[in-house]
Amino acid sequence: MEQHKITTLVFTNVVLLLSCAMAAPRCANCGPNPVPYPLSTGPECGDPWYKIRCTMGTLWFDVLAGSSYMIRSIDLTSRRIIIRPATLERGVCMSTDFHSEGIHLNETLPFSIGAGNTIFQFNCTPNAPHAPPLMNCTTSSLCHRYISDNPEVGACGRVSTCCEYRTGGVRKEYMIGVHGGGCAAYQSFVDYNGTVAPLGKRWPEPGIAVEWVAPLEPICKGAMDCKEVVNSECVVGPTSGGVKRCICNATFKWDPINGLCQPLTQSKCNLFHT
Ligand SMILES: *[C@@H]1O[C@H](CO)[C@@H](O)[C@H](O)[C@H]1NC(C)=O
Ligand SMILES: *[C@@H]1O[C@H](CO)[C@@H](O)[C@H](O)[C@H]1NC(C)=O
Ligand SMILES: *[C@@H]1O[C@H](CO)[C@@H](O)[C@H](O)[C@H]1NC(C)=O
Ligand SMILES: *[C@@H]1O[C@H](CO)[C@@H](O)[C@H](O)[C@H]1NC(C)=O
Repeated sequence: MEQHKITTLVFTNVVLLLSCAMAAPRCANCGPNPVPYPLSTGPECGDPWYKIRCTMGTLWFDVLAGSSYMIRSIDLTSRRIIIRPATLERGVCMSTDFHSEGIHLNETLPFSIGAGNTIFQFNCTPNAPHAPPLMNCTTSSLCHRYISDNPEVGACGRVSTCCEYRTGGVRKEYMIGVHGGGCAAYQSFVDYNGTVAPLGKRWPEPGIAVEWVAPLEPICKGAMDCKEVVNSECVVGPTSGGVKRCICNATFKWDPINGLCQPLTQSKCNLFHT
C-alpha cells in the first residue's frame, strides 16, 4: 500500500486515446458521468484501491466518519476529483458535515486534499489551530469579501471570525476540519485566483479538489490476472514494491492515466498530444 504513495511515474502529455484496447477495464459510466481509470466503482473495474461510489447515476466520494460528497467533475490530467463541499446548517454558522468533523480522508488510501483549494473557515474559537495550515484571519482576507457578497451565508456573516488558507503545501493534507474547539464551518473554491468578483457578481461554484496518486501496475497472482493488461507479464518488477504486478514487456511502458502498456516506439494506437 505504501508503494502507492511513493509512486513517481513519468507522465506523457497523452490526453486522449482512441482505438486502443483498454487494459485494466475502465468502469462503465455512472449515469452520464464517465469513470476514468484508475477510479473504481466496483471490484471488477478500474483499480479497486481508488474506490468511488456510483449511486443512481451520481458519483459520490465517501470519507471517514460517514460523510459523503457529490462528485462535480473529474480531471484526469491533474488527477483531481472536484467534490461539492458541505453546505451550512440553517440559522447557525455550522457546516452540515460537522458531525464528521468535516472531511477526513483515510491516509492509507491514495487520495489526499489537492493543491489549489482556497478555503474559508468561519466561526472559529480563539483556540482554533491557526497553524498549520497557516490561516489568514485579518479583515483584509478574502473570506470577509465572500461574506459581504453572499448574504445567504447568514449566520456565518454575524460571527466575528473568518479565516482563509490555501491548500498545497509540501506535506500531503488529509482533512478539512471543523469542530467545536476550532472552526465550525467552511467554504471552498478550486483554483480561485484571488481575483475578487466584481460587486454583485456571483462567485464561482464552490468545490474541493481531492487528488489521487498515479496508479502502479495492477497487482497480480498469476498470468491470468494480467490477461487484460495486454503486453505485460505477472512478475516482480523493479518498481513494483516487492509484489507481483502486471509489468509491461520490454518495449512497452506503463501508462498510469489509461491503465495500459504503451508501446515505447511506434504506436499502434491513435494518440493525440496536447
Ligand atoms: C482505511 O483504509 C484501509 C484500506 O482499505 C482500511 O483497512 C482501514 O480500515 C481504513 N481505516 C479507517 C479508519 O476506516
Ligand atoms: C490576508 O489576505 C489578504 C487578501 O488576500 C492579503 O492582502 C493580506 O496581505 C493577507 N494577510 C496576511 C497576514 O497574510
Ligand atoms: C481569474 O479568474 C477569473 C474567473 O475565472 C478570470 O475571469 C480572470 O481572468 C482570472 N484572472 C487571472 C489574473 O488569471
Ligand atoms: C509480452 O506480453 C505477452 C502477454 O500480453 C506475453 O505473452 C509475451 O510473452 C510477452 N513478451 C515478452 C518478450 O516478454
